[in-house]
Amino acid sequence: MGKQAQLDLSNIPKHIGIIMDGNGRWAKKRFLPRSAGHSAGASTFKTIARYCNKIGVQVLTVYAFSTENWKRPPAEVASILDILRKYLKDSTNFKDENIRLRFIGDSSVLPADIIELIHTAEEDSKSATGLVVNLAVNYGGRDEVVHAVRQIVKDCKNGVLTEEQINEQAISARIYTAGQPDPDLIIRPSGEYRLSNFLLWQSAYSEFWFSNVLWPDFKPRHLDQAILSYQQRDRRFGGVHAGENA
Ligand code: FPP
Repeated sequence: MGKQAQLDLSNIPKHIGIIMDGNGRWAKKRFLPRSAGHSAGASTFKTIARYCNKIGVQVLTVYAFSTENWKRPPAEVASILDILRKYLKDSTNFKDENIRLRFIGDSSVLPADIIELIHTAEEDSKSATGLVVNLAVNYGGRDEVVHAVRQIVKDCKNGVLTEEQINEQAISARIYTAGQPDPDLIIRPSGEYRLSNFLLWQSAYSEFWFSNVLWPDFKPRHLDQAILSYQQRDRRFGGVHAGENA
């Protein structure tokens, strides 16, 4: 924990979502290829995941590749997938850390070897009791809702669900993060102020924290700042402040 930060360890967000943005600009500033920015970003991700595990965050969701990222030049897409491949092959990245890896998104269109590596990583880490990391790969919030709706239609046809039973819980139970708490805090570095199709359903009551720091430069002390800001907020979930009920 940073020196100046006094985190309240009894009020750590249970679930943090991060949009890992700014890798390209970080590389450009250094006259490096964009892929070097993504490599540096992956290294930051490892540091931040370890730190989240240490301070007691339960779930960390990171946006590694969106359903829209296929529009990038093929070489850049290949470089991101390759970084992911390397990360997954080195299981010490999560196994030794007691981190459970999960994937959210439509993995069906990913290269076959990555699908296999994902499956192995999920299996190998399933008994870890520490942080759960959701890697969002080929993830889109709208796409996730489409999948949930399709599942609901199937369940209705199969008699598992009736029309009257379709409610918010029924949808939450059919999205990728089913069973996990919704994100308390969503962080976007690099000076952008958009959600970019990240955790749309889950972020209904999330707190947001933005920063100009580019993701490869993001350090545990920046996470401390985000959490400190979160801890000073008054979360009402549409209600009123405690003590204002009279
Ligand atoms: C956004 O920055 C970043 C991405 C689209 C890719 C993020 C992927 C990684 C950090 C590696 C994934 C692998 C693991 C193991 C987590 P940008 O390229 O849009 O940056 P820019 O806005 O500055 O161009």
